[in-house]
Amino acid sequence: MTDSPLVLGIESSCDETGVGIVRGSTLLADAIASSVDEHARFGGVVPEVASRAHLEAMVPTIERACSDAGVRLDQLDAIAVTAGPGLAGALLVGTSAAKALSLSLGIPLHAVNHLAAHVAVDTLEHGPLAQPCIAMLVSGGHSSLLKVVDITDTIEPLGATLDDAAGEAFDKVARVLGLPFPGGPHIDRIAREGDRDAIEFPRGLTSARDRERHRFDVSFSGLKTAVARWVEAREASGEPVNVADVAASFQEAVVDVLVAKAIDACRSEGIDQLVIGGGVAANSRLREVAEHRAAKYGIRLRVPRPGLCTDNGAMVAALGALRVSQGRQGSGLGISTDSSLSVTDVAVL
Ligand code: KG4
Ligand code: ZN
Repeated sequence: MTDSPLVLGIESSCDETGVGIVRGSTLLADAIASSVDEHARFGGVVPEVASRAHLEAMVPTIERACSDAGVRLDQLDAIAVTAGPGLAGALLVGTSAAKALSLSLGIPLHAVNHLAAHVAVDTLEHGPLAQPCIAMLVSGGHSSLLKVVDITDTIEPLGATLDDAAGEAFDKVARVLGLPFPGGPHIDRIAREGDRDAIEFPRGLTSARDRERHRFDVSFSGLKTAVARWVEAREASGEPVNVADVAASFQEAVVDVLVAKAIDACRSEGIDQLVIGGGVAANSRLREVAEHRAAKYGIRLRVPRPGLCTDNGAMVAALGALRVSQGRQGSGLGISTDSSLSVTDVAVL
């Protein structure tokens, strides 16, 4: 094996079948097959549909990644795969494929945590992480603030969502506004034409009293309800709903709270590097406000490009390669998936 391991990573925790190939921290291929269109009419991801789609897409996506990267399977040094958290059946498809590759090629398996991979992916774009650093993970299933001591091994949670994940709030509000699933990108786009100060929506867990107990936690259910009530009241009184204004004002409330909590975590921990990852990190307003406020407090901000924020295989390969480089132990072929894997378990051995 050379100094930079050639690692293939498989992601199948939700609705994207992702296969990435990296050599060390160099991205060689990032092949994705998404089943999102099959879920859209249900307004959310249907687990059985996702599992079936992973099954159909897995082999062709692996072949596409190898062809894009110009590598053969027998050249790989290790296989990485998402072991959790995520949909049980969907995770099983990815781990089964990874185990089969590991066994047939005689190379180590690294079954890793999806949340840690969302942070690790940034090394493909911005180089090694300064550690410790603060990471804010905002996706469809999770919202958490983390202290990353060592991305290959030790992550300490500082706070999390008490109810909806940030992406879930975007998706639910989009539904109220009649926008397609998943709603995040649609709200992002429409909000550009709206007035973000048009409606003063609540900023959850930011009052002095809430901050005593939930300084680094977030909550979006109050905001989601406030948007639904506002729209209902407008419709009941026959007044028009300016979708762009609602989207912009809602997005501003989410972004405001997320950035404030992330900066507060950096300052309270005395850490000057912040990484934002997960699907919601693709949000243009979140990127803009985080950039602005981080600069104000002398915090170095790292956010992967939007294509690496949403689920992909490259993030899994990136974390796998970091673990291989650090000489971390591989996973046994008997490992199980864990739909609610804690972020503190960077790998399943
Ligand atoms: O990380 P991800 O691809 O999957 C999970 O691990 O959940 O995140 C998906 C979530 C969805 O809720 C989607 O609406 C949201 O990320 N999202 C966005 C944007 N792009 C994706 N939310 C806000 N603005 C965006 N541009
Ligand atoms: Zn994700």
